[in-house]
Amino acid sequence: MRSIAFINQKGGVGKTTSTANVGACLAALGKKVLLIDLDPQANLSIHYGVNAQGKDLSIYQIMCGKKNVSEVLIKTAISGLDLIPSDIDLASAEVELVNTVGRETIVKFYLGEMLNVYDYVLIDCPPSLGLLTLNALTVANEIFIPVQTEFFALQGVSKLLQTFDIIKKRLNSSLEITGIIACMYDSRTKLGQAVLDKIKEYFEDKVFVTCIRKNIKLSESTSHGMPITVYAPESNGAQDYVALTKEIIAQEKSI
Ligand SMILES: Nc1ncnc2c1ncn2[C@@H]1O[C@H](COP(=O)(O)OP(=O)(O)O)[C@@H](O)[C@H]1O
Ligand SMILES: [Mg+2]
Repeated sequence: MRSIAFINQKGGVGKTTSTANVGACLAALGKKVLLIDLDPQANLSIHYGVNAQGKDLSIYQIMCGKKNVSEVLIKTAISGLDLIPSDIDLASAEVELVNTVGRETIVKFYLGEMLNVYDYVLIDCPPSLGLLTLNALTVANEIFIPVQTEFFALQGVSKLLQTFDIIKKRLNSSLEITGIIACMYDSRTKLGQAVLDKIKEYFEDKVFVTCIRKNIKLSESTSHGMPITVYAPESNGAQDYVALTKEIIAQEKSI
């Protein structure tokens, strides 16, 4: 089982889009996949047409010990793809759990063994390095960092790497950064190419060869509550996420 957290404390870089679509592509290849939405904005849940608002059926309820995983887990319309949704209540978890012992590992504690029935567990993180992201990093054994190929792409990355080092030392020694995903790439601009070069210079061979090109179909697919491979299977967006997913699987030969 591989468990991968998609993190970057910047918002709007492609975390949710990548989690949603890599998940769908893995499931299409016959893998058993669990998506965990750890962002109170619940964009990943919405991406799969799930609205958990006001239903008391989200990861927050699991973290509070009020619901079992089986009560909250949803089978999506994609065969082999399950989802633990989020809702806005999760935003208060940080404050409510402040005095709870082991609060950084509470998700791992409650999900525990059930994760092992999956081939892949993909966790979508909020745009911060707070308690929810720390929880993701104790469940995960790998980190993918989606970066937007725009001017400020690498701003804040050193802070992220610092956080990774601390978690690895203190909470999860098996954690590794195993992939950088260049998102919203525009090959037609000099800036896009220059930023991509910078990202490769910084992260070297950790950067996936496949870049996710800018593609309007990707943003449209979210509002239609389906992954790109279902919404627009012929689009650049679908092709890119299929190619990326093949690279992700190919990593297993070298792990
Ligand atoms: N490759 C892309 N091309 C065009 N739009 C994209 C692409 N990837 C993501 N988007 C859109 O950009 C916005 C931010 O992406 P999202 O994945 O939600 O970022 P994050 O989860 O990091 O905040 C969303 O509206 C999404 O639909
Ligand atoms: Mg997001």
